[in-house]
Amino acid sequence: MVLCAAPLAAGEPASPKLPPLPVVERPAPAKPAVGLSDDRHLDKDPPRTTKGLDLVKLGWTYNCMECHRLLEAKWHYDRPMAEHQDIRLAHGENRFCLNCHHPTNRNAFVDYDGSVIPEKEVVRLCAKCHGPTYRDWKAGVHGRLNGHWDTAAGPRTQLRCIQCHDPHAPKFPTMKPLPPPTYPPRAAHAPTTSAGIHPTPQGGTAH
Ligand code: HEC
Ligand code: HEC
Ligand code: HEC
Ligand code: HEC
Repeated sequence: MVLCAAPLAAGEPASPKLPPLPVVERPAPAKPAVGLSDDRHLDKDPPRTTKGLDLVKLGWTYNCMECHRLLEAKWHYDRPMAEHQDIRLAHGENRFCLNCHHPTNRNAFVDYDGSVIPEKEVVRLCAKCHGPTYRDWKAGVHGRLNGHWDTAAGPRTQLRCIQCHDPHAPKFPTMKPLPPPTYPPRAAHAPTTSAGIHPTPQGGTAH
């Protein structure tokens, strides 16, 4: 489709000038690989696909600042927000959008002193409130490390927080427990209580 703008007649007022888009650093959101390329047994999909800081709406992708350079940042709403109604914030006491999103640069996150946390350093955003978990994550106790323990022997990959947790609703839903195992009716010594599991006749320990 070709859009032709009719030339302005002399004296016709030009449309009011919009403030220019601010120039912001937009590094591609880092998506470290899961595992090494020669790990064939491994499921390579991270548990969650990150969305990045772009608004995808009706098949169009918008830079956050296309709208937000015109909107004043707001902490409180006494009515439903006019946009982003698909986002349900379920992060407990962490209940303000601007705890995480930068008030004047929506292409980035915000630190406690109001400075910018670039999108690719999103782990620093989570770390500002989840110190102990961040410490565990750095040590490889929380989250997922793949590759070589000895980094001299080969590379190591590590998933970032939002590759597992949805930042807007980070708690994992509870899982439905599977039913207990069933025993064939003629099995020897079928347990009567869950605690009294006998060694199976096929196992080496059966007498
Ligand atoms: C805990 C920090 C945190 C809070 C609080 C938070 N966000 Fe986000 N938001 C993020 C992160 C991190 C991303 C990037 C998500 C990704 O890559 O998957 C994001 C992405 C987005 C996006 C772009 C992706 C999408 O889902 O469309 C929008 C829009 C957004 N947030 C709006 C909001 C609004 C509105 C609120 C308040 C109701 C809010 N956020 C509260 C951390 C937060
Ligand atoms: C299509 C225009 C549009 C785009 C693009 C857009 N927003 Fe918004 N955003 C809005 C509107 C409208 C509001 C609510 C204003 C109101 O209801 O008064 C809002 C509100 C918010 C809020 C709540 C806090 C506040 O200051 O009002 C956050 C956080 C937010 N947007 C983040 C984002 C992020 C992050 C992106 C990019 C991923 C984004 N927005 C892209 C239109 C947009
Ligand atoms: C501004 C502080 C703040 C930031 C930033 C923040 N959180 Fe939180 N988070 C909280 C608070 C407070 C709670 C406790 C919510 C409650 O139960 O009231 C919480 C709860 C959680 C929980 C749920 C714990 C549970 O079992 O109930 C997870 C998971 C979590 N956050 C992950 C993240 C991730 C991932 C990020 C980065 C995208 C992040 N948080 C950023 C403050 C924060
Ligand atoms: C490989 C996936 C994965 C990654 C990466 C990950 N988490 Fe988690 N996280 C989990 C799981 C699974 C749980 C346990 C959920 C449960 O018990 O319901 C959890 C629990 C939590 C909790 C609840 C309290 C706790 O310690 O049990 C917080 C807070 C949290 N994560 C924050 C983070 C932060 C911050 C990061 C990044 C520094 C991160 N997570 C990275 C999977 C991950």
